[in-house]
Amino acid sequence: MITRHPAYDLSRRNTFGMNVSCRLYVEITDPADLPALDFEALPQPVFILGGGSNLLFTQDFPGTVLHLANRGIEADAEQTRVRVAAGTVFDDFCAWAAAEGLWGPENLSLIPGEAGACAVQNIGAYGVEVKDIIDTVHAFDRAERRFVDIPGSACGYGYRTSHFKTGWKGRYCVTAVTFRLSRSPKPVLDYGGLRKVLEAEHPGSTGPDGAGLTPQRVRDTVIGIRQKKLPDPAVLGSAGSFFCNPVMEKAHFRRIEALAREEHGADYAVPHYEVGDQVKVPAAWMIDTCGFKGVREGGAQVYPGQPLVIVNATGHATPEEILALERRIVAAVKGKYGIELHPEVEHI
Ligand code: EPU
Repeated sequence: MITRHPAYDLSRRNTFGMNVSCRLYVEITDPADLPALDFEALPQPVFILGGGSNLLFTQDFPGTVLHLANRGIEADAEQTRVRVAAGTVFDDFCAWAAAEGLWGPENLSLIPGEAGACAVQNIGAYGVEVKDIIDTVHAFDRAERRFVDIPGSACGYGYRTSHFKTGWKGRYCVTAVTFRLSRSPKPVLDYGGLRKVLEAEHPGSTGPDGAGLTPQRVRDTVIGIRQKKLPDPAVLGSAGSFFCNPVMEKAHFRRIEALAREEHGADYAVPHYEVGDQVKVPAAWMIDTCGFKGVREGGAQVYPGQPLVIVNATGHATPEEILALERRIVAAVKGKYGIELHPEVEHI
């Protein structure tokens, strides 16, 4: 079914809680209706919305916002290939997999958003990116007006990016994603203190074969860590991490390290991860050490618990206030560390 809502209020369709509207909102519950939809006749531009958890509407949207609201999880006999409809809440799929004892998405538990959008954004957390478990992306190709199955390996996945966000932007409506799951233990624990927390909660469970662990146990622990660090979008509007973590040359990292040691003492360790012959430094650390924790711009605030997140602290923050805070952070980090932060959140 296709439903059309003119002059639609989007405030409950974006987790940032921006009080904006679009000229037309179209909801599609059955992707089989897509070929009959005359995209060119819709108010332009057409934007395909998932759970609205990774975007900032910077103003009222002049065109059409289209949402695929098909839901459902279908597994093959072995349950290792699982097809999830685009409008399914991604965490419902994570919960289902954990309850079935299937490994794969447990580290991605509680990431807000829908299954279709996860394949566009290549969501990630705790050392896992969704590309690691995507087998096939099922989509409607607007250019050729036909349904296509795109192997995950052809989607151009990188850190929080894919061809869907770049060269293929606007071309495909993702209708479902097939994930590859596993019955044998495949725990990924060496990121963000996950192993340490699991060991504290279940001593001896994180041995080399992962035999002491279940996907449910890992999921519960990831949920616990996230709930401690990140704002609950149901309570405090945000779009998760606002910026990407920057990657830099080693020489640049050494200059940042020298600066930090001048400031905090010779033993000070700057958090970082080696990525090939480059270095990734948490943007949270840069924002924190530029003094932005808790800083406000009207109703927008740098979340004190995780400064990578900007929140709608009053529930009435405007896009202008969020953008002003973003500009202040980018300028301060650039001034102090010579690094240009790029938003992870898509600006519409
Ligand atoms: N840090 C500080 N001060 C703080 C908080 C953090 O200096 O107040 C430093 C610490 O050194 C900490 C480091 O930042 O170790 C990294 O923090 P964290 O482990 O919370 O992860 P992150 O790199 O900031 C990324 C993802 C998150 C994901 C976590 C866990 C990006 C842009 N963000 O954040 O994803 O949950 O790792 O894997 O890559 C999201 O995309 O919306 C998101 C929340």
